[in-house]
Amino acid sequence: MLAGTVLTVQKYHAQANALAVQLDLPLSIIYQHRFPDAESLITLPLPVASHVILYFGLEYPNTSLVELLLIAEGLRQQQVQRITLVAPYLGYMRQDKAFHVGEVVSQGIIGAFISNHVDDLITVDPHLHRISSLSDIMPAIQARHTSATGVIGEFIRDNNDNSLLVGPDSESEQWVASIAENAGCDYVIGDKQRHSDTSVSITFPEFEYKNRNAILIDDIASSGQTLITAAKQLYQQGCSDVNAVVTHALFMEDGLKTMRHAGIGNVWSCDSIPHPTNKISLATTLAGAIKALG
Ligand code: R5P
Repeated sequence: MLAGTVLTVQKYHAQANALAVQLDLPLSIIYQHRFPDAESLITLPLPVASHVILYFGLEYPNTSLVELLLIAEGLRQQQVQRITLVAPYLGYMRQDKAFHVGEVVSQGIIGAFISNHVDDLITVDPHLHRISSLSDIMPAIQARHTSATGVIGEFIRDNNDNSLLVGPDSESEQWVASIAENAGCDYVIGDKQRHSDTSVSITFPEFEYKNRNAILIDDIASSGQTLITAAKQLYQQGCSDVNAVVTHALFMEDGLKTMRHAGIGNVWSCDSIPHPTNKISLATTLAGAIKALG
């Protein structure tokens, strides 16, 4: 049986509580204060167990990584022996090579930073391209990724009849194929070209789209432009409805509002990042991954 405590900050209270219930462990809250200049003050709930399961997402990573450093080193000062970081969204995974001269390859640098401060890492469907395993960038710790495809597949199976699942780009096929199998749906994959942070073009293959209820599937929605561009294409092809499911609801600025204007009726997300679109709990998926650690 797992021993220890789940710790989190107020932002993830609901998610961490659901995880603590699954693991049958107590939950305590870390207090965060931001000074006017945005510097962070962290107050730990004392005493702490020797094994801490720290539920702390790494969206908005420039702030989160500094707070992770303070929390982890504060826990070490309290003689915590093992820190299992549960970061359902793991930032800084996209820059895995220098695409232009002089670009800093941040993925490995941030991987090394995390592994210097925690003993285990659990995350969900990280954005990995040229590496297949987190162990490649964090060999010193148990770094594991689990997938939301099982719970997304169940959600779609329980809530939608005969939908057509649509991945906007080749990267999404790994998730869409698995979700389609779990949900028992057809799927198609688009071909996406990215022109800038907020501009993409997408083409879809020949298919019988007429009057189909399409559900777009993606790992991340940030500006929302990928899903918006895909939705416009799908309506032009004859789809009657377009909805979307995303694993990580980053939704910068007015991304969600723009998606609704583009005719995306429902946006459902996993609860990796707290957001009003959260409908799919990752608690059992995360608990399974934690229990599988050595
Ligand atoms: C990129 O390859 C990802 O899978 C997502 O498609 C992308 O991050 C979405 O970003 P945005 O919402 O800004 O188009």
